[in-house]
Amino acid sequence: MPSPSEATDAVTDRLRAAGCVAALEEATELMIALPDATELEAGVQRRERGEPLAWITGTAAFCGRTIGVDAGVYVPRAQSEELARRAASLLPAGGRAIDLCTGAGAVAAHLLATDPTSWAVGIDADPWAAACARRNGVPVVVADLAEPIGRDADFDVVTAVAPYVPTGQLRLLSPDVQRWEPRLALDGGDDGLDLVRRVIEAAGRLLRPGGWLLVEVGGDQDRPLARTLAAAGFADVVRWWDEEGDLRGLAAVSR
Ligand SMILES: C[S@@+](CC[C@H](N)C(=O)[O-])C[C@H]1O[C@@H](n2cnc3c(N)ncnc32)[C@H](O)[C@@H]1O
Repeated sequence: MPSPSEATDAVTDRLRAAGCVAALEEATELMIALPDATELEAGVQRRERGEPLAWITGTAAFCGRTIGVDAGVYVPRAQSEELARRAASLLPAGGRAIDLCTGAGAVAAHLLATDPTSWAVGIDADPWAAACARRNGVPVVVADLAEPIGRDADFDVVTAVAPYVPTGQLRLLSPDVQRWEPRLALDGGDDGLDLVRRVIEAAGRLLRPGGWLLVEVGGDQDRPLARTLAAAGFADVVRWWDEEGDLRGLAAVSR
C-alpha cells in the first residue's frame, strides 16, 4: 500500500508524462475529488487521454467559487473572471442582468452571488449547458441568442463570453481543446465575430439607456467591432488586457 505522498507522486508522474503542465496541482485535485481508488484510476486514465480536468472532477474554480461543470460543457476560463468582476461592479443593487451564451453559468452565478438582491438569467443554445447552469443556481432559457428574450430595454447589464475563435484558427487551439470541447462553444465563424456581432445587436435592444454590455474578445477584434457597437447605439467603449498584454474584453454603455 503506497503512502499518501507516494500515491500523489505516482499520479503526478503519470499526468506529467501525459503532458499536463500543472501535474502536481491536477493530481492533488483528482485525488481530493476521487477518493475511491477505482474511481481515481478511471479519472487519471481520462485525464491521460486529454479530457478536461473539470469534466472529471465535475468542478472548476471561477471568481473564488466552485462551479459545477458537466462533461461536454465548455469549461469556464480564468481569463473570463475579469469580465465577470467588472459586470458585478456595473450591476446596480437589485439590478437585472442577462448572460448570453451562459454555458455552465459561471458569469451569471458570480453576479447572483455578488449581489443576492440582483436577478440574472442565462441564455444558451445547448440544453446540456443550460442544465448545468441551472444546477449552478442560474435560471436559464434554452434559445438562440437572437431569439426575443424578455422585454426590450429591461436589463441593466448584458454579459457574453460567446464563441469568438475564427474558424481558420480553431486548429491552433491546444489538441485537447480541439478534441474534447464543443465546437459550438468555440467557433465564431470566418473572422470569429459572427456571434459577437449578434450579441451586440441583441444587447442594443435588451439594455436600458445607461446599461452596460460586457463581451469577451481577443486579438484585435475590438477594431472591426467599433462600427457595430456604434450602429447598435453604444458609446464609451472600455477595453481590458491580461498580464501578457492580450486583449480580453470590452465594455460599452447603451445610449
Ligand atoms: C465560449 S462558451 C462560454 C460559456 C460561458 N459563458 C463561460 O464563460 O464559461 C460559449 C457558449 O455559447 C453557446 N452558444 C453557441 N452558439 C450559441 C447561440 N447561437 N445562441 C446561444 N448560445 C450559443 C455555447 O453552447 C457555449 O455554451
